Amino acid sequence: MVTFAGIDFKNPVTLASGTCGFGRELAEYFDLSELGGICSKGLTLYERVGNPAPRVAETPSGMLNAVGLQNPGIDAFIRTELPFMRTLGTMIIANFSASSADEFALCAAKLSDAGVDMLEVNVSCPNVKAEGLAFGVSPDAVSAVTEAVKSSAGHTPVMVKLSPNVTDITVIAKAAEQAGADALSMINTLLGIRFDLRSGKPILANGTGGLSGAAILPVALGMVYRTANAVKIPILGLGGISSRDDAREMLIAGATLIGIGTATFRDPAIALKIARELEDA
Ligand SMILES: Cc1cc2nc3c(=O)[nH]c(=O)nc-3n(C[C@H](O)[C@H](O)[C@H](O)COP(=O)(O)O)c2cc1C
Repeated sequence: MVTFAGIDFKNPVTLASGTCGFGRELAEYFDLSELGGICSKGLTLYERVGNPAPRVAETPSGMLNAVGLQNPGIDAFIRTELPFMRTLGTMIIANFSASSADEFALCAAKLSDAGVDMLEVNVSCPNVKAEGLAFGVSPDAVSAVTEAVKSSAGHTPVMVKLSPNVTDITVIAKAAEQAGADALSMINTLLGIRFDLRSGKPILANGTGGLSGAAILPVALGMVYRTANAVKIPILGLGGISSRDDAREMLIAGATLIGIGTATFRDPAIALKIARELEDA
């Protein structure tokens, strides 16, 4: 068992937001109750249809995605997905984003009232008040969002998910900690692009996308390591973990929990394997 932000997780292994939906598909492959927790797909106040296709492109040892936060909206999530997730027997972490601090607070209130176990605040989304610049690149914006979420989250622990697309991630991490975050998760995807050589145009309809998978493991380890030495709150480390030994490195870097994302697309049961192998290690 691992205690993280006051919550007892069966083991340190969680499924990363956006790579496991709400658990329905993966539950056909294995018993999710053997995992520490599951992060929901990124939720927003209202339903979003996401970006046009193509939304994913292959890269060496990873992938580029621009799904665009497709989700049914928080009220529909609470009505139709959360009751199913509660049957899974694992901790439920609700990942969400919004376009202003007030909207973040409203989303947090709805999700904590609905009884999710933990909130994961995705600050990689555009801030409408800052001309679309992501909240996560500014310590002041991260601080304002964290404070707003904390003020409406009641007793539900708040974890802030940091973007790696910044100059110094420890500055942002400290801003979240000072504003009252109970934990941090890191890293989200790295901004990238790929081009189709025939057309000379980007492969993704959105143009740019987020890089994830094995290619980003050393970046994630470096950022977790530096942040763990800069803050006191616990860290859920993720980014490129695809084996037990990758997970062990992430724990050595300073993470208390780990997340598995892109690796699940190659092997749907990889998180279960890693959880079992960590216990044997
Ligand atoms: C297809 C896809 C969708 C994602 N959607 C979200 C999301 O909705 N919210 C979020 O915070 N992160 C999202 N992520 C980022 C992952 O949760 C994770 O931080 C990142 O992919 C790095 O981990 P990995 O290399 O193990 O995939 C998504 C990643 C992928 C590949």
